[in-house]
Parts: sequence; C-alpha cells; structure tokens
Amino acid sequence: MAPAKPNVAEIFHSMDYGPAPEEQTRVREWLAAHKSFGHFIDGAWTSPSRNKIEAKNPANGETLTTFSIGSSDDINSAVTAAAAAFPKWSAKPGFERAKILYALARLIQKNSRFLAILESLDNGKPIRETRDIDVPLVARHFYHHAGWAQLQAQELPDYQAVGVVGAVIPWNFPLLMLAWKIAPAIAMGNTIVLKPAEFTSLTALYFCELCQEAGVPPGVINIVTGAGETGAALVKHEGVAKIAFTGSTEVGRIIREATAGTGKKLTLELGGKSPFIVFEDADLDGAVEGLIDAIWFNQGQVCCAGSRLLVEEGVAQTMIEKIKRRLNTFRIGDPLDKAIDMGSLVDPVQKQRIEGLVAQGVEQGATKWQPDITCPTDGCFYPPTLLTNVGPANIVVTDEIFGPVLTVMSFRHLNEALSLANNSRYGLSATVWTENINRAMEVATQVKSGVVWINCTNQFDGACGFGGYRESGYGREGGKEGLFEYVKLKNEWAKGDAVLPKATEAAEPAPANDTIDRTAKNYIGGKQSRADNGGSFTITTHDGRFAGRVASSNRKDIRDAVEAAANATSWSGTTGNLRAQILYYLAENLSQRSAEFAKRIADITGEDGKAEVNASIQRLFTYAAWADKYDGLVHAPPSRNVVMAVNEPIGVMGIVCPDPLPLLALVSTVAPSIAMGNRCVVVPSERYGLVAADFYQVLETSDVPGGVVNIVTGKRDELADVLAKHDGVDSIWYHGSAEGSARVEKLSTGNLKRTWVNNGKARDWFSTQYGEGRQFLREACQVKNVWLPFWE
Ligand code: NAI
Repeated sequence: MAPAKPNVAEIFHSMDYGPAPEEQTRVREWLAAHKSFGHFIDGAWTSPSRNKIEAKNPANGETLTTFSIGSSDDINSAVTAAAAAFPKWSAKPGFERAKILYALARLIQKNSRFLAILESLDNGKPIRETRDIDVPLVARHFYHHAGWAQLQAQELPDYQAVGVVGAVIPWNFPLLMLAWKIAPAIAMGNTIVLKPAEFTSLTALYFCELCQEAGVPPGVINIVTGAGETGAALVKHEGVAKIAFTGSTEVGRIIREATAGTGKKLTLELGGKSPFIVFEDADLDGAVEGLIDAIWFNQGQVCCAGSRLLVEEGVAQTMIEKIKRRLNTFRIGDPLDKAIDMGSLVDPVQKQRIEGLVAQGVEQGATKWQPDITCPTDGCFYPPTLLTNVGPANIVVTDEIFGPVLTVMSFRHLNEALSLANNSRYGLSATVWTENINRAMEVATQVKSGVVWINCTNQFDGACGFGGYRESGYGREGGKEGLFEYVKLKNEWAKGDAVLPKATEAAEPAPANDTIDRTAKNYIGGKQSRADNGGSFTITTHDGRFAGRVASSNRKDIRDAVEAAANATSWSGTTGNLRAQILYYLAENLSQRSAEFAKRIADITGEDGKAEVNASIQRLFTYAAWADKYDGLVHAPPSRNVVMAVNEPIGVMGIVCPDPLPLLALVSTVAPSIAMGNRCVVVPSERYGLVAADFYQVLETSDVPGGVVNIVTGKRDELADVLAKHDGVDSIWYHGSAEGSARVEKLSTGNLKRTWVNNGKARDWFSTQYGEGRQFLREACQVKNVWLPFWE
C-alpha cells in the first residue's frame, strides 16, 4: 500500500524523505495493451500459448501481464528462423550491421525511462539503479559493438561468425544481460535465439518492439520465453552453434554436460563469492560507500557482489560501526521511489533461499545484525544483513547467497588477506581498498578472479571484459576478448586424422642381446619416474619392428604429475623475458640433437623426421618470441577509470596430444602453455610416445624448472579422463578422437575447468596460421581486468 503523502509543513518538521515515485503512465498503458505475449520469432509475434507464466511485480505481488512458455517446437521454429537469416546477415558488410546496432543503441536511449520503469516493476530493483546504471550500460553495449561490427573485417580478418547463438540469461540484470549477449553476437554476424529468465521477461519483450523499429531483419533476433525446460530445449537444439549462458553454477554444469561432444562453443558466466578487502590505510568512509554498492546494489542479487568483507584487524571494529551507522539510514521500499536505497528481491523463492542460508549460517555460529529500520513486510523485501563471527567453513562464507547479506572477517597481514580471498571455489571479482598502490597491485596480481576493482567497485563497460576464474565459469563478455566467443577461425581443420590405428604388437621382440632395460619412464617434477604399476607398452617402428617401450601409466601417475605441476607455482610468477630465454634454450638444445630426433621420428612414423624437427625448433622460437609480447590492453571506459586487461596464466593445464607428428604436436601445445606461465601435465602421442621420452632429456638440459612440464605416457583416452576429472587441473586441451573430446568436456564439470578440444578433427601442425599463434596463446591465458580510478 502506498504510504500517505505528508504535506510540506510536515516534511519540514520531520525532515523525513517523502515518497518520490517515478511517473509510470506510459508503461502502465503498454502493459494494459499487452495482456499476454507470444514469442518473437522471425520478426513477428506468435500467438500466446496456453501454457503461460504470470509476470509479477515482486514488490507487491501484482500480476503485470502474462507470457508464453516456449515448447521445443517454439524453440525449433526460432532456431530455424535464425538459421535461415544467418547466411544473409553474416554476409552483410560490417557497416550494414553496425547501422542496425547503432539504431538499437539510439532507440534504447530514446526509450530509456520507459525501459528503466518496466525493469524496476518486473524485477523489483530501484529505479535509481535501472535509470542510472542498467539502461545506460545497455545502450553503451550496443554502441560499442556497433563499432566492432564496423571494424570486424579489418580487425578479425581470419575469423567468421559461428552461426546461430542460443542465449540463456538470468533475472538479476534482465536487459543488461540481453545486451551482453545480443550485441556481440549480431555484431559478429551471428543470428540469435534468446531465452530470458522466467521471473523477468518484460524488458526483453519490449526490446522486440525496438528491434522491429530499428529494422533488424526477420530471424536475426528471436526471443522465446519460458523457464528451465525451454532453456534446456535451446541448449540441446542441433541447429545452435554456440551457447552463451549466465546464471547459477549448478545450471552451468548441466549445460556443460548437455553440450559435451556437440562441437558447440560455450561461455559460462556463473556465480561468485567475491572478497572485498579493506586495508588499514584505506579511506574508510570511501570504502563503506564502496561496500554499499558492492553488496547492497540490486539487493545483493549480483554475481560479482562483494559479499565477503575482509578487513584488516586494526580497523575492523571502526569499519563495522561505520557500516552499521550507514545501514541505519537505509531506506527500503517501493522500487519506483527515486529516493530508496534498496527495493525488492525478485521472487518469494529467492527470499526463502536467503532466509534459509542465513539461518544455517547462524546455526553454524554466525552473529546476525540487521539495522533498526522499516522494512516492508508484504512483498519480497529483505533487510540489509551483517554476519560476523564467521569461520571460513561457515555456509554463508562458502556459498553464494545472492541477497543483501555481508559476511565479515578480519585479517592481520596481506598474505592472510590473500589466502582468505582465494579460499573459494569461485573467482569472479575482487575489490581492494587501500591508499597504497603497491599493495593494491600486489593484491590485484595475486587474487584469483577475472575482475579486480581498486578503490572502486561494480564498474562495468562494453570495452572491458567481464568473466570468471574457477567455478565462476569461462569466457569473457565485453572487450575484444569477448568477441572471440562469437567467432571461429576460417578453415581451421586440415584433412587427415588426429588419431591413428593402435600400434600393432612388435613383430620382432626386443633383440635378444638387448640386456639393458630400454623402457622410457615418465617425467614428473623434473625427474624420470617409473609408472606406478611398473607397466610398459611397446612402440614399434613404422614397418612393425621393435622400437622401444614406454611407461604405461595410470591415475596415480597423473595425480603425481598434477601435484608436481601444482607445486611449481613460481613459474607462473616469472617474467616473459625469462620464459623466452628458456624457450630459446630448448630450441638450441633440440637443434643440437636434431639428427637423432629426425632419425627416431622417421623410424617410427615413416615420415620426414627432419622436416618435423625443423618445424619444432621454429615453433619454440615462435613462442620464445611471444613469451614477452602477448601483452594485455589498457582501456579507457567512459567512467574515470583506467582498466588494465592483463593476460594471466590459467594455472595447471592438462595437454593431451594427437597421434601424428609426435614432436611437433607436443611442442606446439606445450610451448604456448609454458610461454604464458602455465605448468602442464602432458599426455603425448599414444602411438609414438617414445619421441616424448626423448624430448624430456631436452627439457632436463634446458633449465626448465622441475614440475613445469610433466610427461606421462600411456593410453591417451584413459589418462585424458583422469585429467578431465582432476580438480587440480584448471584447463585441458585435448587433441584426439571425437568420443574422447566429448568425454573430456563431460568430465570437466567437477571444477568447471576450461576445455579446448578438437572433436576428432586433424590440425595442420606445420601451418603457421593454424598450428601456432594467437589462438593458442588465447587458450593458454585468462584475461583479468583491473580497474583503477583516477579521481581524487
Ligand atoms: P538459474 O541458473 O536456474 O537460471 C538462469 C537461467 O537459466 C534462467 O533463464 C533459467 O530459466 C535457465 N535455466 C534453468 N535451468 C536450465 C537448464 N537446465 N537448461 C537451460 N537453461 C536453464 O538461476 P535461478 O534458479 O534463477 O537462481 C538460483 C540461484 O542461482 C540464485 O540464487 C543465485 O545464487 C544463482 N544465480 C546466479 C546468477 C549469476 O548472474 N551468476 C544469476 C541468477 C542466479
């Protein structure tokens, strides 16, 4: 119920804020004219279906309108329309696509107040935020990507659109997430089918009207509404070439499994439990205001919410008092009131979830504090909440609450702050507040998250990538790095097979007078080590003679290798200059032994060993060259920030090599990985594993520190499975069979490691266009965007 309006004299007397509701007539008229919606497919509306969802205003439970639940037939129609529109749309000159994106940006600006009101009504978020943050960012995203459409031919000449994109988005930033998916997708020449979240579909439906007005060709943008089942139908549709998902980590896992082995590209923007670190020397009042934005923005329903305050012990009490004082002035109420701090949660389900998690946290020892302010009791309102006395294992510290709830922990020194900050399965964002730039940069470098805000928080821009480390998902949205999620290399795959028939058992056993054990061992932690089970298998020459034996390893050997790689952390902190020198040294040492390698390769493959060795030496030079040149970027977003997009190593990489070209394929995958500072566990060619065994002698003599490259021979796909499941592996590259690729993707869901697989296709490893270069470097890095303000 709207509160009674006080008169001016009463307001002067009490000095209370009066209600300041936003004018909503136009939106109400639009809702009255749209009692039920169908889907937007092929540029037109379908008739509303019988299965409907009621769009509710969560602040008061009022039904706003109804919209349809998309069936798999509806998804099929939308994907068919998008596929039909794709050839023409992708063939259009960039300028033609840029004009459409520009028209959408302009229309969003012209309708910004309408969109802001509709979003607040549907989602419950304050009009102050939709008006000043969500909608301006939506327009900015379309402007920015209009530019990328214009520049695509010059800036990405080797790439093409992937086809039909399927996008599934959440309810916390409904229109903004739509923009983050649609703008890059159509800019790069893709067509799209988007499914909005079931709680918040209205701005997406209004956006369809803007598409018609902007002249978006039929089929280029399709919107099908519905809940999880509709999303699942889109994810599994065979006509979709790429899935872009934002939402919960649980559903992210389901989608990874559902797309495994289909060849669909995938980006996952998932949950978070982001640290907000405050040092003693911080401007505490500034930090408190930052914190208000970090965790109480959008009622805390933000994937990158700064939900874990870590504050240096000396100022912890002062900081908590300041937060409490600030929260005691909070105003919670009608989302359309321009003077409120917090609106409504999105749905009663979300309120129950928050209440449940907070109750569990208190049971586990947390102390709950809520300000003494009025919080509406009808509607989905939940007061801002502080939880102190929490240990690192308390559920409120480990799990994403997705509500206006902050946990508080203190620390004594930087290292403790970092270990608390990184003690999370997530890695979406982090905030650090300090007046000491050295300390801020040290935290920015050490913290495991895709975004770092220094003395600012929750900043976003179309030019700056956003996305997570670890179980916060993979892929980036925004920035140039975000474009690569919507394109693929032209003519990437070569003729031939990545997998060769298994080696036949040696026709000739080892020569009788060969009394010395010639079984090549694994190479783990800088040492040769026998396979756990002592087993080995025979490698034959190309004409079937005995060539030698290699270790037949099992899961225990992989575990040891992962541990060695995990311990070799200092490699990731070395300079590009040092890594370059070591790669040159590897090339030098390989070159010294080139005749011997060439003979071995020719013997067992029957191919030109010399050519392969020469190409491998050159490849080592390529990555020695890149090691200190694959730099990041510096962005200048419209806010007063400078943003450093840094290419960071991913961590421990599993590398599974194809059968052919046993030296070149190994070098082509290991070299970019270590050039970028990763440590790796390599499963070499199953058919020709002896060559890898020879190569570790080169590693040993080239100053590659122990644990940086670990080589484990054996049955490729069995070992790949172990790597894919291992939680200590952060990323896996697999070059083998189509079935093996599918299994690797499916088994990667445990810790949501990044995967890069070949789906059984062969690569031309000799090619300087497809066998090396930026594509490999991009797959060996994750981009961290560090935001620095430059106001006083
Ligand atoms: P959700 O992950 O279930 O929903 C996100 C989107 O995925 C919606 O459009 C939904 O319809 C769709 N979806 C659900 N199941 C699907 C499936 N099997 N296949 C394809 N699409 C599917 O998130 P939900 O249930 O709305 O919220 C639950 C929790 O998830 C929240 O409390 C929060 O912790 C987290 N969450 C995180 C978000 C983020 O931005 N990281 C956004 C939304 C929720």
